[in-house]
Amino acid sequence: MTDFSAALPLDRRRMFQIAAALGTSAALGERALAAPAGQAGPQPSAASAANGLKVAPGTIRLNGNEYWEGPVDDGTDAARAAVARSNYYDPAGERDALIETVATMEQVGADHVVPWAGSGSPLARAVVGFCSPERGLVTADPTFEVAWMVAGYIGAPVAKVPLRASDQAHDVRAMLAANPHAGLYHICNPNNPTGSLTPMADIVWLANAMPKDAVLLLDEAYLHFSGAASGMDLVRQGQNVVILRTFSKIFGMAGMRMGLSIARPDLQAKLMQYDGGIQTLQLPVPALACASASLRRMDQITARREQNTQTREKTAAFLTQRGFPVLPSAANMLMVDWGRPAAPIKAAFEAKGIAIGRSWPIWPTRSRITIGSPQEMDRFCNTVERVLA
Ligand SMILES: Cc1ncc(COP(=O)(O)O)c(C=O)c1O
Repeated sequence: MTDFSAALPLDRRRMFQIAAALGTSAALGERALAAPAGQAGPQPSAASAANGLKVAPGTIRLNGNEYWEGPVDDGTDAARAAVARSNYYDPAGERDALIETVATMEQVGADHVVPWAGSGSPLARAVVGFCSPERGLVTADPTFEVAWMVAGYIGAPVAKVPLRASDQAHDVRAMLAANPHAGLYHICNPNNPTGSLTPMADIVWLANAMPKDAVLLLDEAYLHFSGAASGMDLVRQGQNVVILRTFSKIFGMAGMRMGLSIARPDLQAKLMQYDGGIQTLQLPVPALACASASLRRMDQITARREQNTQTREKTAAFLTQRGFPVLPSAANMLMVDWGRPAAPIKAAFEAKGIAIGRSWPIWPTRSRITIGSPQEMDRFCNTVERVLA
């Protein structure tokens, strides 16, 4: 393959390489970060990334924070109809329709909404856009690590600040103290892997206290599981805040690839600075149509949330009674403490047909368990007895 980058000036060559790297980062979801049984993620190699969430057929998947059902019926119908017109790039203006739908729902200008093939790509682009070797990244530990990986790649310093011990919220004051001149402060709310919420007052505090030219990246991938307030007011007020959303979780569209960045247009431009936004202009039409139709059925998304909460709390109560403490969660995951190394336990579950989630290096005795269907969680609970007997 021709290496066009060689013909570019050094700066542009570097950006070209980053663009190439981020092309793959569109897939930097749980799949890329999942470690083979027995190891704590993240996994840097492309080969292991490709196999990240691969499990034997018939295995119950409680390892990827996906939703256990596909899109709501109206979404599936819209996607099916869109397949038939997918010979053209976007003949029915599905991209604009999604933007309009989101802008109306979120009460922001249409120029504040950019769709992507998932939220992993804008997450990585935010790090490239707002961090540098001089302006670092501040995140929590544990959290979703894609931002750490990208910061490492571009040579930006990373400050990982432990979650607050009392409630596993992001410790925003410690985050600012860890690097008062960072380019990007990253909050995942609810957090992955804990499902814990950071109070809106803390998020607002950080948005106001960080340097005037820094950016707050608010990843709301799991927000709809929680019913908690969004940070969208900060965007409406014109602050330096980028909000990420994804359709990969409660909307049941992980394999369709659709996500959003919502922010001021000048901040959005920084996410597209090296490719003119080509990756956001050409998106799968069925996924766009599915996303718009799903957003019109928020009643069903709310029903999913209620169901998930019930199943999660039942599972949490079971684990706690058996002597395995869990952290309070507002999302579709539970962090359980086995009190001994989690890696062999993960392997033992997998041998019994259940893929549970990974561990984070900071917490090697804990595993993240994605909440599946009520039946799947019953099977999980029965298997806990057998694996940990
Ligand atoms: C917090 C968080 N943000 C972003 C992503 C990226 O997901 P996607 O690219 O499927 O939207 C994930 C995936 O698991 C996630 O957990």
